[in-house]
Amino acid sequence: MIILASDHAGFILKEEIKKFFNKENIIAIDVGCYSREQLDDYPDFAKSANQKVIEDDRNVGIYICGTGIGMSIVANRNPKIRAALCMNEQFASLARRHNDANVLCLPGRFINKRKAIKIVKVFLTTDFEGGRHARRIKKY
Ligand code: RB5
Repeated sequence: MIILASDHAGFILKEEIKKFFNKENIIAIDVGCYSREQLDDYPDFAKSANQKVIEDDRNVGIYICGTGIGMSIVANRNPKIRAALCMNEQFASLARRHNDANVLCLPGRFINKRKAIKIVKVFLTTDFEGGRHARRIKKY
């Protein structure tokens, strides 16, 4: 299952990603926010999305705020979450292959929808390589 979260600054990009998922028949749960008007707080959404992501090892999250930084800081406070802030497809690929990231954080104010969808596609279709990277992950 894919869990989506954003604050007001990530809302528009999240809506674009939802449109893409609808077109592709990909099911996702949106834990909020539900409007760009209210100046809400990204930790609230990162925390509730984390609770859903950790329910199942196969779950992944996509969290969006203005920079993606706040979301990634909050997400990574949960020891079961490995959240990666990705600005491009290469980062998304490495976040999966080397870090087994289970949460993708995106900067809603700094990338457009085409770029975001490319990043999301890479993140969702790239496998963890294991091996030495698994050894490293076990150390944190
Ligand atoms: C909200 O203005 C902004 O601070 C937030 O979206 C995020 O970028 C924080 O890291």
